[in-house]
Formats: sequence, C-alpha cells, structure tokens
Amino acid sequence: MKYLLRKINFLIPLWLKKRARKLMYNKFAETQIKLNEDIRFINLGYHSSEKLALLGKDEPYRLSIQLYHELLKGIDVNGKNVLEIGCGFGGGCYYLANYHKPEQVTGIDLSDKNIARCIKIHNSPIIQFKEGDAEDTGFASESFDVIVNLESSHGYPSRDTKFCHEVARLLRPGGYFAYGDLFGEKQFKSFTMALNEAGMIQLSEKDITKEVLQARPMLQYKSVNTDNKPFWMPLFKYKNLTVSNDSATYKAMTEGRIRYKLFTFKKGVKDE
Ligand SMILES: C[S@@+](CC[C@H](N)C(=O)[O-])C[C@H]1O[C@@H](n2cnc3c(N)ncnc32)[C@H](O)[C@@H]1O
Repeated sequence: MKYLLRKINFLIPLWLKKRARKLMYNKFAETQIKLNEDIRFINLGYHSSEKLALLGKDEPYRLSIQLYHELLKGIDVNGKNVLEIGCGFGGGCYYLANYHKPEQVTGIDLSDKNIARCIKIHNSPIIQFKEGDAEDTGFASESFDVIVNLESSHGYPSRDTKFCHEVARLLRPGGYFAYGDLFGEKQFKSFTMALNEAGMIQLSEKDITKEVLQARPMLQYKSVNTDNKPFWMPLFKYKNLTVSNDSATYKAMTEGRIRYKLFTFKKGVKDE
C-alpha cells in the first residue's frame, strides 16, 4: 500500500496534497491543544549550554525559544519588517516581537486552526497573523526585510521551485532568509542550489542534529497516539512529526540519514 502510494504520488494534484496537509495540521493542532492547552511551539527544540535570559513565564518554552535564538544568530531584526512562514502557534513571532525590536512581525500558516490560536493567545500591536500558503503568500514583492522559516518546509510540494521563488520575490534586496528544517543531504543540496539560482547568497550552514536530539526528551509536546491519525493519510505518522523514540525519523536522525540544519541567506543586491 505504502509503496503503491509513493509510486503514484506524482499523479496526485497539488491542490489535493495541500488540502490534505492542511487537514492533517489542523488535526495535529487540535490533538496537541487537548494534551497541553498552553502549547506555544511545534518544533523539536535546541539544547544549549548557553543559558539565554528569559522571562519567567517563557521558561517552559526554553528549548523551542533557543532554537529560534540559534536560527536568528547573526541577523539584526531591529526596526525590520519580518515575515514568519509556517508560524504554527505563533511562539516564534512572540519571541521575535518580545526579545528583539522589529518594526512589524507577520506570521502566516496553512492551518486555519493554528492561525485562530495565534490570534487568541498573542496580543501585540506589532504582530499580525494570517492564514496563507508558503508557496503563494499573496504579499507584494519586496515587502519584507527578514523571512523566517523553521521546521515547516519538509512537506511543501514545490519547495525547490515555488517556495524558493516566493522567498526571493518577497525579500527586499539585501534582506535575510533564516531557514531551518530536517532533511537528507540530497534535499538540502537541491534546496540551497535552487535558492542560489533564485538570487539568494548562502551566508551560513550549521548542523544542529546533536543539540536537537539532546533537547527532544525534555520537550514540552508529546507523542500522539498514532491510531488517531486521519484515515485518509495512510503514509502519515504523528510520531514522525513529534520524533518520538520509536519513530522512523528518530532512527534516521540518530543514524545520520536525516540531519537538522540551520541556514542563513541574503538576497543579492544588484551589482553586488
Ligand atoms: C512543525 S510546525 C513548526 C511551527 C513553528 N515554526 C514552530 O517552530 O513552532 C510546521 C508548521 O508549518 C505549517 N505549514 C505546513 N505547510 C505549510 C504551507 N504550505 N504554508 C504555510 N504553512 C505551512 C504547518 O501548518 C505547521 O504549523
């Protein structure tokens, strides 16, 4: 069954793949909120010996915040217009708005349930949230100084084509793209090459698989009973999303077949 579905994957129209992902992320949000109504992040976290100074109320989210902190190292967001694509429950936008000094932070996500939760729990005059698709955001060209994309791109159907071009289109010349996700080396190569062809210059690359695996057992959000997964997504496993110890993703990460990497890119300025 799995083999057959993989073989016919290219026959499934894009709109149907997106619809299925949206339903899946909506269901995931519902399940996670039921388990922990204070949930603010849906990432795997980053274990660091550097103790970032946090407000007491943000301590429960330390590992997830440290992941954003690590991702944004070297990027000055002060006074900047920032877009987070795939903002989940908006914890990253909250971190940006409260621990940096951006002019404006916009978070978009495919899941309307996630966006509804963002609007409910994050109330700030400089943060706005909107339902939207990473590969076709609808924003005007060159409207952002910094784009953040963390642990969201692994399911985009046209990551190396549409998403790459959307990032390059939305950034002002000289703008930054802070990117982090889990992939095999081949997928990282094709993505970085596609970004390069779209006019983005790679500034840094950091493998943080070890620190992510160290954070995983201490992480706030839990594995979900895989029996509850939607019947129409037979290839999907919640445990791969939460990377529980019995998941294929966890095994691949410990064996080095899947790495967690952070990158920064800069949009080339003409004549640079
Ligand atoms: C693992 S969560 C990470 C969320 C957030 N960055 C964080 O660290 O907490 C991935 C998010 O990407 C969103 N997502 C997936 N595909 C998307 C798409 N095509 N466009 C926008 N968001 C998408 C999902 O709805 C989900 O909220």
